Amino acid sequence: MKVGSARTLACASAMAAIALAGTGSVSRTLSAQSAAGVQPASATAPLLAEQAFKNIQALKGISAADFMGTMGIMTAALGFDCSECHVAAGTDKVDWAADTPRKVIARRMVNMVVAINQTNFSGRQLVTCWTCHRGRDKPVVTPSLDIVYGMPTLEPDDLVVASVPGLPKPDEIIDKHIQAVGGEQRLASLTSFTATGTSIGFGGFGGGGAVQIYAKAPDQRSTIIEFKDTPGRDASIRSFDGKIGWIKTPLTVLGEYQLSGSELDGARLDAELAFPSQIKRVLTNLRTLQPATINDREVNVVQGNGPGRLFATLYFDKETALLARVVRYGNSPIGRLPTQVDYADYRDVTGIKLPFRFTFAWLDGRDAFQLNDVRINVPIDATRFGRPTSLETKR
Ligand code: HEC
Ligand code: HEC
Repeated sequence: MKVGSARTLACASAMAAIALAGTGSVSRTLSAQSAAGVQPASATAPLLAEQAFKNIQALKGISAADFMGTMGIMTAALGFDCSECHVAAGTDKVDWAADTPRKVIARRMVNMVVAINQTNFSGRQLVTCWTCHRGRDKPVVTPSLDIVYGMPTLEPDDLVVASVPGLPKPDEIIDKHIQAVGGEQRLASLTSFTATGTSIGFGGFGGGGAVQIYAKAPDQRSTIIEFKDTPGRDASIRSFDGKIGWIKTPLTVLGEYQLSGSELDGARLDAELAFPSQIKRVLTNLRTLQPATINDREVNVVQGNGPGRLFATLYFDKETALLARVVRYGNSPIGRLPTQVDYADYRDVTGIKLPFRFTFAWLDGRDAFQLNDVRINVPIDATRFGRPTSLETKR
């Protein structure tokens, strides 16, 4: 038996090795295809997984980016890293397309999961890889009596449909937050902000980058992390201009790509939620969940539906009413794709409280930021939200 550890650096560095070696067959295929004009130059049609990759049989019809999300789901659910299903992942000899025994089983499991949900739950996605695997390669079959008679571990539902009775209404919780960060009137006057700071690594990975953030109401945002002290290390960039979004993460299989599917909806939500006065407009069908605890502090929990099939859960500190965490859930054929942002170190910027520290975590990695200079209502050039290549500082 193999019990997966919490996702750690091992995976991130495996991915890093792929990219630093620069010979990921996929990225080569992709750039060859873009050169040949397969990757759409304009906004609309995203590159599908089966167009981007060579050997896609089960997960067809989703964007290449959402496909990479499904790889994250598999990796997390089984407690694996990429190399446990893919030949030589993490080295320059990687062959993503080659079938390994585990890859063949995983493909069968994709079809199994879809069939279980179709046959038993009218297609609602109630059974996922995580339902059975829980971070292990082989699911546990029998409950251990120590667990039956031990302390229950609390795991809240991720999606709820209605407010838990007897708790404050979602509007009350959000209004209290709006009051706490500056009040409705002041927030309505907040139309843009820029920030600079540094990225903090996890265990020495990804730290020390120079960070710039640009945000403009109602829905534009970009984050640029540059490693100026490390020659040859590319910038990490996320941008969204209100319609089109891009990600450039040099340490991954896809390199730079245009967002689509769940990721595009997610980028829109991130941009919109940067302006707290918009929470109640952007999220619909708001409901209050059971209160929870984050870092030993009690939090009120509110959930709402975002763009597309996205939904998001917001955690507000009970005492300060500040937003401590947002988890948004995108969808994929085999389970939800969680992205979590944790906020801390709120400081006053001309009467508005803004978080100066935050951590952005998704299935394939984490970034943490410490801001040191935040300016509000400064003019921002529209090009700041454009394609990553145009956002990098020229060296
Ligand atoms: C549990 C096994 C498993 C794990 C772990 C896994 N994959 Fe996969 N991977 C698959 C399967 C299955 C396919 C084929 C999917 C299909 O046929 O639709 C695939 C296909 C791919 C492809 C497409 C290759 C091609 O050209 O056809 C890429 C790229 C890929 N995976 C990357 C990754 C990365 C990066 C990771 C680590 C984050 C990862 N995978 C982790 C099972 C896995
Ligand atoms: C209904 C429960 C269930 C679900 C859902 C499920 N699995 Fe499994 N999976 C199993 C069981 C049981 C085994 C062990 C089979 C055995 O030992 O012969 C297994 C084994 C595997 C293995 C082989 C592991 C090894 O190294 O021995 C892989 C890979 C795998 N599953 C991938 C997945 C993926 C990916 C998903 C989601 C798309 C998934 N499974 C969903 C029950 C499930």
